[in-house]
Amino acid sequence: MDLNLESQRSLERIITDLDLTKLSAAEREVFKQRLLEHFPRLFSLLFDIYAQQYDFYYYLQNLIQGLVNNYAQRAEVLKAKDNTRLNDPHWYQHEKMLGMACYVDLFADDLLALKEKIPYLKKLGVTYLHLMPLYESPEGDSDGGYAVSNYRKVNKTLGTNADLAALCKALANEGISLVLDFVFNHTSDEHPWAEAAKAGDTEFMGYYHMFDDKRIPEQYEQNLREIFPQVRRGNFSWSPEANKWVWTTFNNFQWDLNYANPAVFNAIVDEMLYLANLGCEGLRLDALAFIWKEMGTSCENQQKAHSLIQAFNCCLQIAAPAVVFKSEAIVHPDEVLKYIDKQECQLSYNPLLMALIWNTLATRDAGLLTESMIKSFPISPDCAWVNYVRCHDDIGWTFDDDVAQNQGVNGQDHRYFLNQFYTGRFEGSFATGVAFAENPSNGDCRVCGSLASLAGLEQALELNDKQLVKHAIGRILLVHSIILSIGGIPLLYSGDEIGLTNDYSYQQDSTKEHDARWVQRIALSDEAIAQSRLANNPQNKVATGLQKLIDIRRQHSVFGQGQTHILPLSNQAVFAYARRNQKGQELIAVCNFSEHPQSITRAALGLDNGGLWQDLLQDNRPETPPERIEILPYQVMWFLS
Ligand code: GLC
Ligand code: GLC
Repeated sequence: MDLNLESQRSLERIITDLDLTKLSAAEREVFKQRLLEHFPRLFSLLFDIYAQQYDFYYYLQNLIQGLVNNYAQRAEVLKAKDNTRLNDPHWYQHEKMLGMACYVDLFADDLLALKEKIPYLKKLGVTYLHLMPLYESPEGDSDGGYAVSNYRKVNKTLGTNADLAALCKALANEGISLVLDFVFNHTSDEHPWAEAAKAGDTEFMGYYHMFDDKRIPEQYEQNLREIFPQVRRGNFSWSPEANKWVWTTFNNFQWDLNYANPAVFNAIVDEMLYLANLGCEGLRLDALAFIWKEMGTSCENQQKAHSLIQAFNCCLQIAAPAVVFKSEAIVHPDEVLKYIDKQECQLSYNPLLMALIWNTLATRDAGLLTESMIKSFPISPDCAWVNYVRCHDDIGWTFDDDVAQNQGVNGQDHRYFLNQFYTGRFEGSFATGVAFAENPSNGDCRVCGSLASLAGLEQALELNDKQLVKHAIGRILLVHSIILSIGGIPLLYSGDEIGLTNDYSYQQDSTKEHDARWVQRIALSDEAIAQSRLANNPQNKVATGLQKLIDIRRQHSVFGQGQTHILPLSNQAVFAYARRNQKGQELIAVCNFSEHPQSITRAALGLDNGGLWQDLLQDNRPETPPERIEILPYQVMWFLS
């Protein structure tokens, strides 16, 4: 069968039947234009997934009508934004981009209060704000909002839909792009779809993966990981209301959606476009690796998961092209890369860089970081990494075991060491972290803790040791310098900008005590901010040091669009890379990952071309670098050509 022909035929039929009455004449033209451009791809992606479904065409037709309706509802300013972004598709690669992720309530109580804090964000230089899930969700434990009961309703503890609309507008006026979570792998068990499924409505039972007994789940289970083994073993939960086993990759109240059902795809496209029409410019694709299940596989990173995400992206290109996707694939580095494409996710978290930054702080050896980045940092020039050091989640020790092997490192043993190191069980460690999701069967775990605590500030303050405090601050600034300069959008995690240490109060809260990730979900109080403004205390040194790095980044286009080259060095305590842009500007970044001074030749860094170089972090003039460059403990240098 000729797929192109079928696609064309379907498109013609669909267009004839489309109800375009809600669009103006000009909008009809725009819509048709985009449909012509993107339909063939959308068709072939969906055909690949749903062609077996006898009523595939019905769902396709429905989907396109849904796109029309959502486009009709898109505000004029957002349609204008669509054009601006289409004319400047690489806007997210700009050197002025700076991200921050925060919880509405921890950052500012509620949405209205957050609006009042926009000046704080502006002062830092934030241009991209990721608000953790703010939708209606179950009371008590809702996995920090990642169990959504209604995508269209703001959680009442955070405010109202009108408050969110007002905030969106205010952010847009200040040039801050809003990023929202697209939690599309699962809904909460209180979502109306789940409630209907519990009540035996077969239409909605088909939205989830439900089983009468454990026979099929057990077959799947043979190849599945466990994500939260500390709260529940396996990937299925018994629902007494539904009288069924339900697929629940995460908590038992997070029901995985069944994307083998085209009705689910269409319904979620509608929810997605609702979020797009709120005015967000980025959607964070939560847990995207898990959306397609295939018996006999790990049910992660399946080819059809990619097809689905690309199909979602096609829908955006037609109805709301200002919005980009950010991949949250916390999986093997080779698999992370597969989600990154202009037609899939334009942005992606960089979990490998994150994990290996922590690894290098622990080992004082940048070998694994260097080799891994040489292999995995390059991505399409149309896309961008979102580089981060901490986030609301745990740290899993992701790296490629073969690369580790090359470095003489045994992956499994090394992960054990890193867990020991960062949970303070390793003699001489500077870190104060908490073990998370310990698997009683195999002892695996992951690590939680705030950036400052993991970098040694908590311990140093407790011991009241000036030298250790100095080292901790050095580490905090060093790791931030990397995400600010290596290429991509740097994403700060709220609280880290003033070096907040662990908050153990979750241990007293029955809805949180089983989830150690709360240790790094810390309220940013006015007192803490005031404290950070007092000269010479450690938080102030973190805040001012970071602000300086941010301000320098904003001033030089070499931090924006360009290419990164990792520089392998014989001195493995040092990590270095070059950044080059089309204007011929070059930046060489050098980081000393140890508490001892290091020295390195200028030739090894490529600084021996006879030109003048200026270290942007020292207040000196451009000069010919000395033959040997001395780098102080945890010092960073940014040489600009
Ligand atoms: C993502 C979120 C995490 C959540 C999980 C399930 O990994 O970052 O916080 O627990 O998805 O939604
Ligand atoms: C994500 C990640 C996993 C992470 C979890 C929640 O699904 O794959 O590594 O730990 O969510 O924290």
